[in-house]
Amino acid sequence: MEQMSWKMLIVTKAFLLYLTCAFKVTVARQQEGVCATCHVNATCDDKRDGSGGKVCNCMYGFLGNGRTRCQDKDECQIGGGKICGDHTVCHNTYGSFYCTCLSGYSPSNSLVIFIPNDGTQCNDIDECKVQGICGEGGWCINMQGDFNCRCRAGYKVQNGSQPFHPHRDKAVCTAIDCGQPPSVAHAAQLSEAGTRYGSVAQFGCVKGFFQTRGNNTAVCGEKGVWEGLSLVCEEINCGPPAVFPNTDIHWDNTTRLGSVVHYTCKNGFYQEGGSSNSTCSSAREWEHITITCKEINCGPPDVFPNTDIHWDNTTRLGSVVHYTCKNGFYQEVGSSNSTCSSAGEWEHITITCKARCGPPPSLPHTEVEWQNGSIAGSVALHSCQKGYRSWRGVNLSLCADTGRWQAATLFCREIKPAISKLLIFNEKCLRWKAERYDGQGEDYTVQIVGSRDYQRTFQYKRKRVFSTAADWPELCLNLLPGTNYTINITALSAGFSSIISANTSIQAPPVPEVVFRDVEVPLPSLRLRRSINTLDPISVYQVFVVPLEKPVAFDCRSVSESHYHRQRPTGLYVAAQIPVVDIGRELSFTLGDQRYYGEYYNAPLLPGRDYYIILRAVNQWGRVRKQSCVFWAKARGTPYIIQSATMVTGGLIGLVAFVIFLGWYCKNK
Ligand SMILES: *[C@@H]1O[C@H](CO)[C@@H](O)[C@H](O)[C@H]1NC(C)=O
Ligand SMILES: *[C@@H]1O[C@H](CO)[C@@H](O)[C@H](O)[C@H]1NC(C)=O
Ligand SMILES: *[C@@H]1O[C@H](CO)[C@@H](O)[C@H](O)[C@H]1NC(C)=O
Ligand SMILES: *[C@@H]1O[C@H](CO)[C@@H](O)[C@H](O)[C@H]1NC(C)=O
Ligand SMILES: *[C@@H]1O[C@H](CO)[C@@H](O)[C@H](O)[C@H]1NC(C)=O
Ligand SMILES: *[C@@H]1O[C@H](CO)[C@@H](O)[C@H](O)[C@H]1NC(C)=O
Ligand SMILES: *[C@@H]1O[C@H](CO)[C@@H](O)[C@H](O)[C@H]1NC(C)=O
Ligand SMILES: *[C@@H]1O[C@H](CO)[C@@H](O)[C@H](O)[C@H]1NC(C)=O
Ligand SMILES: *[C@@H]1O[C@H](CO)[C@@H](O)[C@H](O)[C@H]1NC(C)=O
Ligand SMILES: *[C@@H]1O[C@H](CO)[C@@H](O)[C@H](O)[C@H]1NC(C)=O
Ligand SMILES: *[C@@H]1O[C@H](CO)[C@@H](O)[C@H](O)[C@H]1NC(C)=O
Ligand SMILES: *[C@@H]1O[C@H](CO)[C@@H](O)[C@H](O)[C@H]1NC(C)=O
Repeated sequence: MEQMSWKMLIVTKAFLLYLTCAFKVTVARQQEGVCATCHVNATCDDKRDGSGGKVCNCMYGFLGNGRTRCQDKDECQIGGGKICGDHTVCHNTYGSFYCTCLSGYSPSNSLVIFIPNDGTQCNDIDECKVQGICGEGGWCINMQGDFNCRCRAGYKVQNGSQPFHPHRDKAVCTAIDCGQPPSVAHAAQLSEAGTRYGSVAQFGCVKGFFQTRGNNTAVCGEKGVWEGLSLVCEEINCGPPAVFPNTDIHWDNTTRLGSVVHYTCKNGFYQEGGSSNSTCSSAREWEHITITCKEINCGPPDVFPNTDIHWDNTTRLGSVVHYTCKNGFYQEVGSSNSTCSSAGEWEHITITCKARCGPPPSLPHTEVEWQNGSIAGSVALHSCQKGYRSWRGVNLSLCADTGRWQAATLFCREIKPAISKLLIFNEKCLRWKAERYDGQGEDYTVQIVGSRDYQRTFQYKRKRVFSTAADWPELCLNLLPGTNYTINITALSAGFSSIISANTSIQAPPVPEVVFRDVEVPLPSLRLRRSINTLDPISVYQVFVVPLEKPVAFDCRSVSESHYHRQRPTGLYVAAQIPVVDIGRELSFTLGDQRYYGEYYNAPLLPGRDYYIILRAVNQWGRVRKQSCVFWAKARGTPYIIQSATMVTGGLIGLVAFVIFLGWYCKNK
């Protein structure tokens, strides 16, 4: 509603204003006439013709008929440059105009507007005088009425293109920055460099690598990138090392910088020159790579006196020279082989050969008893062979320095045994045939060794010296019975021994000393005395009881040794057997004591009977048995039975005869 009222108000006012104007024109026409017909923008001028009439002329700056039409004249229409001058702008106004300088120009009158022909001209403004007008890195270029900017070296335009106008464009100059220098395989930057335009970074190949081609310099270019770097690094490779004659190569197969190859001379060769090591250098070659190996040569070997040389004529490493003593010589000291050493010399040896005599000379009937060698200075001692004896001459051979034996002159004669036909007679005498050379007597030693099987403790050793000149010497020895003897007789000067074995027989033992008695007591006690005998170990005493019932023949040699027999009380029996070694020098024996002696029963004597008691001494070894008997007593049984001892013949005469017979018999058997 309000707007509507405003609009109504404006329309109303405009209508009122029109009404006012129409009123005024009507008034002027009425007052002035012609002049009144002049255009408002015309002047009513007096006519120039002097007519005093009025003429309507359009006012300055208007064109028209002055009455109905006075229109504005556009002075600028014909061109500002033509009206206002160069670099101007013509500004038309209603009925007039004015001039201003074009942008970028400034009026010389230092006023903003001017009118032509007032001497004012528009001069170019040098905007570049304004510091920093193009910004950092910008470069100002002044132009007629204008300027623009470009980027200085090291800067590039951003958000626009060049040239640019700092006010119109968004473009700015920014510093070129290439960033970190690029990296190159197997290369390293040599020095610190900036990252701005124009920075220079230099690269070098790392250790073990070398520059094969390209440029090692990178420059930060205007495009903001590093340029120009084309370095190529390749690994150093010395290639396979050279091969030299007679060398062994020790190498890990690498050909890098610092790789080492080591040469050694082959066995049998020595290094004469050059270097045994070589290293792969940065110059891409093996350094000092040269080695010369020459074969080891020991030259001719030494010569030693009295030696033969065995050699394959080579003088290489390991060649061996073998020396032997010449025939007839032997090697006393030193070693026999010399080897060509790696030092190029024969191993230093010494060899000394001495003369050799070989086996000593052989002389008839001699043998070499002792010899301390067959070299110069050795001796050989000759002795006669067995069965020969030295007669004369020297018994030593000597090996001379000439290598020959100075032979011995020993002469040997056959010898007959000094003792022959040795025999024993009479069980204790020796006889032999003596062989003697110089007609003189001979000394003999007789060694007697006795032994007994039955008496282990028995040891018999005797030595006798005996001299005789007899051709059939005899020598009786004090030999013990029942003994085995070995008798060794040596003829001392002949050094000859002969041995004979002998055994002496067992003799009948000696009867002990008894006193023949008549005994009557119930248990008659009998006694004997004896002396020690060498054959005691094989001796027993046997007590024979001989009843005088009927005639009895008692044989001392009898081997039947009957035991007492109750059923046959009249028979002869053995009452006791006692080993002699159990008896001292005396024996007291009680007849009929009813004890056992040995295996025999000493039975009581029967009453009223008579007995002879016979003591038999027996020596027995093996099957050899010797005995002797003696009447020991006549015993009477218990006294109440008195019965004459009637023997074969009866009466005392017969008894005596029997006793005599017995005694004779026993003695002789
Ligand atoms: C006369 O001139 C003035 C300016 O000077 C202008 O405003 C006006 O409109 C003109 N009158 C006519 C009728 O052209
Ligand atoms: C360039 O223009 C972009 C967006 O128009 C703006 O973000 C950037 O800051 C400008 N760069 C510079 C250097 O003025
Ligand atoms: C390497 O490049 C630099 C910069 O571009 C230049 O000055 C130099 O002469 C070049 N060197 C070679 C060997 O081309
Ligand atoms: C070097 O190479 C040879 C032949 O290829 C090979 O026999 C030998 O074992 C290698 N030596 C080493 C140390 O690798
Ligand atoms: C040569 O090299 C070997 C092993 O590579 C080393 O033991 C020896 O010392 C070196 N000799 C020299 C003279 O360099
Ligand atoms: C060594 O040389 C000598 C003299 O030249 C010759 O007689 C001998 O047969 C040679 N020995 C060998 C084993 O070749
Ligand atoms: C010395 O050499 C010979 C032959 O050349 C050989 O039979 C013998 O065994 C060698 N002796 C020694 C001690 O090496
Ligand atoms: C051999 O023995 C003799 C006498 O004992 C001595 O003079 C000599 O030097 C010995 N000879 C040797 C080679 O042993
Ligand atoms: C060698 O003869 C010497 C004296 O001629 C003599 O004393 C020595 O017992 C004899 N040696 C032998 C084993 O015959
Ligand atoms: C004597 O020796 C013979 C045979 O060796 C033997 O049978 C015998 O018993 C021995 N005699 C003595 C008394 O040693
Ligand atoms: C005999 O006696 C001699 C001199 O004592 C001795 O050399 C020899 O060995 C003896 N013989 C025996 C078989 O015992
Ligand atoms: C010992 O003597 C006996 C006879 O007296 C005889 O038969 C035996 O052979 C002799 N033994 C020895 C070793 O002489």
